[in-house]
Amino acid sequence: MLKLLNVSKHYQLGNNLIKALNNVSVEVKEGEFVSIMGPSGSGKSTFLQVASILAEPTSGQIFLKEKEVSLYNEIERAKLRNKEIGFIFQSFNLLARTSAIDNVALPLVYSGVKHSEQVSRAKEILEKVGLGDRLDNTPAQLSGGQQQRVAIARALINDPSIIFADEPTGNLDSKSGDEIMNILLKLHKEGKTIVMVTHEEDIARFAKRQIIFRDGQIIKDFKTKKVRTKQKNK
Ligand SMILES: Nc1ncnc2c1ncn2[C@@H]1O[C@H](COP(=O)(O)OP(=O)(O)OP(=O)(O)O)[C@@H](O)[C@H]1O
Ligand SMILES: [Mg+2]
Repeated sequence: MLKLLNVSKHYQLGNNLIKALNNVSVEVKEGEFVSIMGPSGSGKSTFLQVASILAEPTSGQIFLKEKEVSLYNEIERAKLRNKEIGFIFQSFNLLARTSAIDNVALPLVYSGVKHSEQVSRAKEILEKVGLGDRLDNTPAQLSGGQQQRVAIARALINDPSIIFADEPTGNLDSKSGDEIMNILLKLHKEGKTIVMVTHEEDIARFAKRQIIFRDGQIIKDFKTKKVRTKQKNK
């Protein structure tokens, strides 16, 4: 599904060269649910931005569904992102004065879908995330957890192949965070590929595979241990 080969992303800040990503190679298979952890500044967000072709790498190759997307120009990248990639941000990134349904329908506007179909698809997805009764509410009229569910619905509207989430529960209380994780788990069970950054060990354990970053490099990549149920001895 996704493959990075020797990918680096450097930033020049004055005299300082910051190696936000330093020669990273990794592969994510179709249907995997991967969590990314690591200290602040270790390159997690940079990794998501580069892997989701939002930001261009300084060097290296990126393949999405066997296509070398690191060769694409800006227009090709925007098209591909709209069609194949869903991105969920820590701070929701919704349009403030726009209703939930219009926020969710927005990606369809660029893909040339009829207005009536935009509305019906946006409604259907909002119902799926439990917001069928909040279609006309603006973000200010919704709780943080509800806003993040609108953002998830927006990320799903074009039925992307892969979903990236950068600390999707970071701004939420634990109950709303659990609701968001349950939605992501459900999407994983439906076969979606998910790559999620988190600071919280409890959240990371929802994923079947964990990758740990440090200083722009992957230092660990392992399967999450199953939570053991107690053995009955008698
Ligand atoms: N646009 C930029 N210009 C210059 N340096 C940047 C830029 N974006 C990120 N960096 C630097 O790259 C490094 C990695 O940043 P990144 O945001 O990927 O870290 P992170 O692991 O997501 O941290 P956090 O957990 O705090 O979100 C940091 O040293 C950061 O200062
Ligand atoms: Mg970050």
